[in-house]
Amino acid sequence: MAFKVGLLGLGTVGTGTAKILLDSQGRHPLLQELEIHRVGVRSLDKPRQVELKEGLLTTDLESIATDPEIDIVVELIGGLEPARSLILAAIRHGKHVVTANKAVISRFGPEIFDAANEKGTYVMLEAAVAGGIPVIQPLKESLVVNRISAVTGIINGTTNYILTRMQKEGADFAEVLADAQKLGYAEADPTADVDGLDAADKIAILASLAFAGRIKLEDVYCEGIRQVSAADISYAEKLNFAIKLLAIAKRLAPADASNATNTTDVTEDRLQVRVHPTLVPKTHPLASINGVYNAILVEGEPLGQVMFFGPGAGSGPTASAVVSDILSIAAILKTETEPIPHPLLSCTHQHYCAIAPMADLVSRFYARFLTKDKSGVIGDLGTTFGKNGVSLESIVQTGMRENLAEIVVVTHDVREGNFHKALEEIRHLDAFDSIPSVLRVL
Ligand code: HSE
Repeated sequence: MAFKVGLLGLGTVGTGTAKILLDSQGRHPLLQELEIHRVGVRSLDKPRQVELKEGLLTTDLESIATDPEIDIVVELIGGLEPARSLILAAIRHGKHVVTANKAVISRFGPEIFDAANEKGTYVMLEAAVAGGIPVIQPLKESLVVNRISAVTGIINGTTNYILTRMQKEGADFAEVLADAQKLGYAEADPTADVDGLDAADKIAILASLAFAGRIKLEDVYCEGIRQVSAADISYAEKLNFAIKLLAIAKRLAPADASNATNTTDVTEDRLQVRVHPTLVPKTHPLASINGVYNAILVEGEPLGQVMFFGPGAGSGPTASAVVSDILSIAAILKTETEPIPHPLLSCTHQHYCAIAPMADLVSRFYARFLTKDKSGVIGDLGTTFGKNGVSLESIVQTGMRENLAEIVVVTHDVREGNFHKALEEIRHLDAFDSIPSVLRVL
């Protein structure tokens, strides 16, 4: 019995996927039961990196989503439309879907999973987060008995590459970005990566799985790396931190919840889901994840910590995740005559998670100030922080920048709302000039 696969897209990941499907030697024998039935592409004339049987290619993508012979539709075209409509059409026609599309799943997951549940089909998305790193299936199966407290990840390779080079070369963001674009590590339009949007899509998906509830993408706080400067990286280095774009989904401890802005909203289930550049202590396992690599640290009870590390993008790694999803579906189809929704592999939750506002975040902060070089400035800063309940871990003035004193502060844990209130007062100090950067500290 062969399972017929319809591929939508034959770009980088589509080509990698076709290559694995056509070369089963030395891989799992179930692969031999998979057959590429048709492949949807934008242009029939483009040269291809994989040799396919004649007549497989079509530009009619809709005909693949509705083809009665196809069992599994694999969506690898990316973008929101027509990807979303094709996924929904495939489900309506009773097909199982494998997708690498984080943008569609993070925005339209509820619509897609409701449709799939109604039809009794599967939607699998291992490749949508962290490319070749298995993290979706572990969250759905291997780790599912744990009470997850936090998922913290470096899940955007482009920004990790840029920050790593800034750290190693002492270079500024714009300079490294331009070079990364030249070398093909960053897109011509880098917005989705450098502004944190790609990581926000991915952490919304991971949070939804880790905390078994739906996440509204607009509830994910998102700050990119454009404002991270060579000066901040250098100060961080001196203070024994690396700056990383972290994506964090965390269950708020009741102690954190008791600090809430609006206590009537507090339930045990409040989450914080956020993406922002973060000072990570050099001793933390995520601090040493460099270059384009991704890593996800999952913390739960009783497991403790487990970290997944590997290639977060690329043709082969992402295709490995895609084909493993195809294989999981084929295994279910092979063993179950009536494929009822698998209790672990299908999406069973329907409620939305309550997300706490950023003002309630309790974190350490790093801030860099420029002030007039007058006596008593450091004292005034310290006093203003103190008045607002912000306790300082360190305060240093190492030099001057353009005739202004540069003062760097690291706080102890403080409610974000209180920290910003202190900054507001600091802006009114006589010697104040500017606050070039404020970053959170893990
Ligand atoms: N642009 C993404 C990254 C590719 O840099 O990680 C994988 O989603």
